[in-house]
Amino acid sequence: MAMAELSTPKTTSPFLNSSSRLRLSSKLHLSNHFRHLLLPPLHTTTPNSKISCSVSQNQAPVAVQENGLEEETRSWKKLINIAVSGAAGMISNHLLFKLASGEVFGPDQPIALKLLGSERSIQALEGVAMELEDSLFPLLREVDIGTDPNEVFQDVEWAILIGAKPRGPGMERADLLDINGQIFAEQGKALNKAASPNVKVLVVGNPCNTNALICLKNAPNIPAKNFHALTRLDENRAKCQLALKAGVFYDKVSNMTIWGNHSTTQVPDFLNARINGLPVKEVITDHKWLEEGFTESVQKRGGLLIQKWGRSSAASTAVSIVDAIKSLVTPTPEGDWFSTGVYTDGNPYGIEEGLVFSMPCRSKGDGDYELVKDVEIDDYLRQRIAKSEAELLAEKRCVAHLTGEGIAYCDLGPVDTMLPGEV
Ligand code: LMR
Repeated sequence: MAMAELSTPKTTSPFLNSSSRLRLSSKLHLSNHFRHLLLPPLHTTTPNSKISCSVSQNQAPVAVQENGLEEETRSWKKLINIAVSGAAGMISNHLLFKLASGEVFGPDQPIALKLLGSERSIQALEGVAMELEDSLFPLLREVDIGTDPNEVFQDVEWAILIGAKPRGPGMERADLLDINGQIFAEQGKALNKAASPNVKVLVVGNPCNTNALICLKNAPNIPAKNFHALTRLDENRAKCQLALKAGVFYDKVSNMTIWGNHSTTQVPDFLNARINGLPVKEVITDHKWLEEGFTESVQKRGGLLIQKWGRSSAASTAVSIVDAIKSLVTPTPEGDWFSTGVYTDGNPYGIEEGLVFSMPCRSKGDGDYELVKDVEIDDYLRQRIAKSEAELLAEKRCVAHLTGEGIAYCDLGPVDTMLPGEV
């Protein structure tokens, strides 16, 4: 049994604290640390009004209308601020363009993107911002880049936290939990201080359940309910496998729950999932495949993909982030649900409180969700859910120094892998 007592969080973060940022459509003053690019102002509806550029030495380019008026765009909603960490990475490279296109929040929702990266990635971030600019997305009103979460998270309504370190050669799992946990502790504190009080936070960086837990514990002013760990990728993978086996199109698979951790202990629930409205077990009669082949293929899909690609999933992860957010901002179809890793307090399934655990949820489309409370759990599911729960409890003990719950005690054990990529 490997055991480690972990250090207290360092005050310096792997995310650097320069205030470099690129900003579009800004009225801020230019300085060495800021670069400003131009977008037209948000409110321009008079068909014949012209946009021109007004630049002075001390001022960023500011778009103004010739008549000097800014009019309300009646058909557009109020601008929302969205933070994305790890913004120069592969997942973000797919995600940001989907966000900017309106695919996620809708064609009437203007957005500002706040991109968080490390000092090392700042040039790449500028490149990302330039590509966003060159894409001429009408809904994208502003792009900021920066390395200090306290600045980047200012007033954000959504935070998509992707940036995390992958496990390096010879690195203990406990070390990975500690290194990434420190990033998420710092970001939790920054969200607590700077973000909109009802910010919705989606943690993607692995180990995402425990990172989400660390983040929420460091953000006591934000409702714990607002934090999610991304298990939608696992849900999508499970739906794909069932659809392929049943010979139906993906959209015929519904009510797909992923229980537990985004790891190889996750439980894709074929007992309650449906194909064409029928229980999966009625449509797929090879129950041995369901219990073994199907379950393992979903649990280990991330690892297999790494073997093939030589790197982690990126495009499908971005798609699943889109799906996860859309599930919160659009009403869940009648009778269906979706999976997301959420705080377990008050759950009706007897899962230990104080964890971030993937469960079935529904939304009215207001950004919030409720747990689906009446899903059947048989002995097969119960045993496997308990294993994932035990794994998360062990991870939680490893990061007690980051959640304010005392001294960390790490007994993860040598056998189980922690991430789908680590098989
Ligand atoms: C995935 O599920 O594809 C990733 O979480 C794998 C990984 O370990 O990066």
